[in-house]
Amino acid sequence: MVPDKAVRVKASCSTANLGAGFDVFGLALSKYADRVQVRTTNTRTVRIIALGPYGRELPRAPKKNSAGPPARALLDRSGLNTGVEIIIEKNIPPGLGLGSSGATAAACTEAMNHLLRLDLSNDELVRTASLGEAAASGSAHIDNVGASLLGGFVIAYGNPLRAVSVKPPGKLSIVVVSPKTRLAKNKTSLARRLIPQKIGVKEAVLNIGRASAIALGFAKGDLDLIGSGMEDAIAEPHRERLVPGYKMVRKAALASHASGVAISGAGPSVVAFVDKTKRDPKKIGRVMVKEFSKSNVESTFFVARPAGGAHIIRSN
Ligand code: HSE
Repeated sequence: MVPDKAVRVKASCSTANLGAGFDVFGLALSKYADRVQVRTTNTRTVRIIALGPYGRELPRAPKKNSAGPPARALLDRSGLNTGVEIIIEKNIPPGLGLGSSGATAAACTEAMNHLLRLDLSNDELVRTASLGEAAASGSAHIDNVGASLLGGFVIAYGNPLRAVSVKPPGKLSIVVVSPKTRLAKNKTSLARRLIPQKIGVKEAVLNIGRASAIALGFAKGDLDLIGSGMEDAIAEPHRERLVPGYKMVRKAALASHASGVAISGAGPSVVAFVDKTKRDPKKIGRVMVKEFSKSNVESTFFVARPAGGAHIIRSN
């Protein structure tokens, strides 16, 4: 028998890529978090209920909701003769590039792991949660789920998958600016299709160097080094047209001494990393909003800090 009947987990939103780390780097962010409660049932099915401010925007069909495939996979793995009911409190706005579907998948995976006593490794948790991304966006990318599960700055890579996380520097503030653009329903899959399947050696070398600078910058707590790597030669050049005004906004934020700027995941939000001991993140947020308005794009911003990983908030 399963000792816990219900487990509730909270998982934060995240920004992925950080410029040069396309599909590899993620950073968990404060501000929004999903809460997912999973309880065992005797039906052998996966049932999804979505509540909260954005609950109505989620598909309920278990194959289409990012909580469904991880739940199914872990039920099958457990070999237990049980089903689950998943209640999602959807607090992370979908479609902004803040890892909304990934956070739900991460929270559900963590809850199932505890509920069914599976004792999965971090690598297995991330791999399982990525099944949810495949359902939500057509690709099992691991950067957002890695960040939401493990917290902090995450490098998720390789085959077999590995995921490692490091605590970001305390002086890091993240300005998140979200343009109010019309969003296609399958935004992430469209944005992924814009990226060519083949890249040149020049682009690969540029990205390896910059991604290395970001990783080392997090290891050393050096925000300038992190910022110096936040430029991408693989995805952003092909995606920036999805974020009208991005180039100018990026330039303005850097001129205002942001350490680095990138499109957040598949966009349309833009993140600026700021050393809050030296610069006022809100001031940089206002500069970015003003710059977007010059391209006739309305936008809003908030300031976030790095967040921790998915964790249990109730279990009984
Ligand atoms: N790395 C993914 C992408 C994140 O950029 O497509 C999507 O949220």
